[in-house]
Amino acid sequence: MDAAAALYLMALEIKPKDAEISLELERILAIKNPPGAGSIGSEVLIEDIRDRYIARVVKGKTFAEVGGLWGTVNEKISVANKYGATSLTIIDTAPASIHWWQDFRARMASLNIANYNCINRDIAQIQLAEIGEPYDVVHCAGVLYHHPNPLQIMIALRQITREYLILTSAITQEVIENERGRYQVPASGVIFIPAITEAERIVLKAYWDVYTNGKPIFGLIDPAVFDVNDFAPWWWLPTATALEAMCKVVGFKVLDKGLTWDNNAMTLLLAV
Ligand SMILES: C[S@@+](CC[C@H](N)C(=O)[O-])C[C@H]1O[C@@H](n2cnc3c(N)ncnc32)[C@H](O)[C@@H]1O
Repeated sequence: MDAAAALYLMALEIKPKDAEISLELERILAIKNPPGAGSIGSEVLIEDIRDRYIARVVKGKTFAEVGGLWGTVNEKISVANKYGATSLTIIDTAPASIHWWQDFRARMASLNIANYNCINRDIAQIQLAEIGEPYDVVHCAGVLYHHPNPLQIMIALRQITREYLILTSAITQEVIENERGRYQVPASGVIFIPAITEAERIVLKAYWDVYTNGKPIFGLIDPAVFDVNDFAPWWWLPTATALEAMCKVVGFKVLDKGLTWDNNAMTLLLAV
């Protein structure tokens, strides 16, 4: 496909479902539209895939961010606001007493965002009656594999989503091989981290150490005591195939997807 055809498809808002075609379109359009240029292809110039998907669907829609507090600047409320969301809600389980909520409010103030709702809840426990009606667009990154019941997270996300979910999760490679040994999981597999042996953990630790910049991964790089009420450890790691299947079994269709973090995470644009 040449650049003109690619631009024409984008103009018609025909979004390729195949991630490889998406990447090729991005490559062509990045050449055609240097950074800073405003054009019909401007969406693909957004570097963060999550922001790109938000920009694609959020204009004129209600938006909720699930699990956006940690790290403060990783929240997507400001992104949804920038791309035209009509209402903004953050749902996070972090206790009200810790500074994350304060930091989030300070960030919103610094960005001149005054109208947003805060819900301090575990998404897996939330009832639709608490929020009134589903949000048109929901974003959730970095939550699924931290929860002892990831499918319950998916069911809850489906329950609060009216149109689109943008989901990111860490994933596992199917084969991990290094100087510490070899670990293999089938494409259909999900690692239950509390069950890994010490020998397996050492192989996985050698792999993940490269990608985490010294940050802890409780349960995987760092030993953890697993308590079902504790969402700090990593509990589960699906393969890319298993993650996609988890989305589908709760009723989402996959519109687009992309691998990030050196193929250690996947972001999916899902539709109800
Ligand atoms: C690993 S951080 C991810 C932060 C950010 N979304 C990112 O991708 O960098 C997980 C965040 O989700 C919140 N969280 C964890 N489990 C949750 C749950 N069950 N319901 C709602 N929020 C949750 C945590 O408090 C934290 O703010």
